[in-house]
Amino acid sequence: MTAYPKTSALMRRGAEFLGSEYAILCGAMSWVSERNLVSAISNAGGFGVIACGAMNPDLLDAEIAATRALTDKPFGVNLITMHPQLMELIAVCGRHGVRHVVLAGGIPPKGSVEAIKSFGAKVIVFAPTLALAKKLLRSGGDALVIEGMEAGGHIGPVSTSVLAQEFLPSLSEDHLVFVAGGIGRGEAIAGYLEMGAVGVQLGTRFACATESIAHPAFKKAFFRAGARDAVASVQVDARLPVIPVRALRNKSTEAFSAKQREVAGLLDSEGVEMAEAQLQIEHYWAGALRRAVIDGDVENGSLMAGQSVAMVTQEEPAADIIAGLMAQSEAALGKRSG
Ligand SMILES: Cc1cc2nc3c(=O)[nH]c(=O)nc-3n(C[C@H](O)[C@H](O)[C@H](O)COP(=O)(O)O)c2cc1C
Repeated sequence: MTAYPKTSALMRRGAEFLGSEYAILCGAMSWVSERNLVSAISNAGGFGVIACGAMNPDLLDAEIAATRALTDKPFGVNLITMHPQLMELIAVCGRHGVRHVVLAGGIPPKGSVEAIKSFGAKVIVFAPTLALAKKLLRSGGDALVIEGMEAGGHIGPVSTSVLAQEFLPSLSEDHLVFVAGGIGRGEAIAGYLEMGAVGVQLGTRFACATESIAHPAFKKAFFRAGARDAVASVQVDARLPVIPVRALRNKSTEAFSAKQREVAGLLDSEGVEMAEAQLQIEHYWAGALRRAVIDGDVENGSLMAGQSVAMVTQEEPAADIIAGLMAQSEAALGKRSG
């Protein structure tokens, strides 16, 4: 018997798919979503996901093994589609019998979805448009995450509320759709579940959990920040399309503009191709995020955070955050059904 019957009923398909008690994913966050946070989320009944954006196959191998040692609950692995060693990383997941692989960062390259399915794992995909979502779900995607521009990290141009209205009515009956971006409280979860989502994904709310290894200075910056402090990066050169990143405003916001001008200059002098230029930008982010999360350099590092940072005010165990979200959702659903 669950303590949250109305919410659990609406999450049933999502929770069955994930194999977790609650259909609440903690979205992968590079440097943050490692063994400690991932296992804490899964042990608390949510679904933790290892972030592999900055890992090579050996590191992923060690991280999966270490996470397994800390939890016997299901968890997933998030792979970035443009990672140069994507197929090797998929093979590592296969060797460990990982059950859920999240493919983030773009259209999955040829053969990647098939490779994941070959060892029986489920594939979770992201899609910025409804047409692409339908295509990915037809060609092997088992579940979809729609993520609005309120989110922390790399973002698209459309808000979560509009994406939910665009995608859920036509997909929710036949497909599993999780909603992400800007979710800070359970009332919002209740709303998306009522619209047809089978679950949700949160990042910012979990980044400062007690079990998160993020540096105390990184966490303090989150506790102090308001929604307006989490700003999207600006593209400075029309020829260099960069995916915007939402982070707390600091010196690194300016440094990113300078980095773009530097890479655009390299494009000009034909020192680099476009693909290499974009990879340099992605490496920049990985390095900048590490400086903030691991080293605690909150001035020059990147403090990736979503607008829901407004709802992050103190350090709390992952289990308390999840229980709070479930209780808020349940109360909201209770009110609506009278
Ligand atoms: C610090 C930080 C790092 C992130 N890193 C990644 C990442 O490496 N890969 C990814 O797919 N998403 C990444 N995200 C996005 C989260 O997985 C999640 O989808 C997002 O945080 C959800 O929106 P919210 O921040 O409004 O809760 C990151 C988010 C944050 C806040």
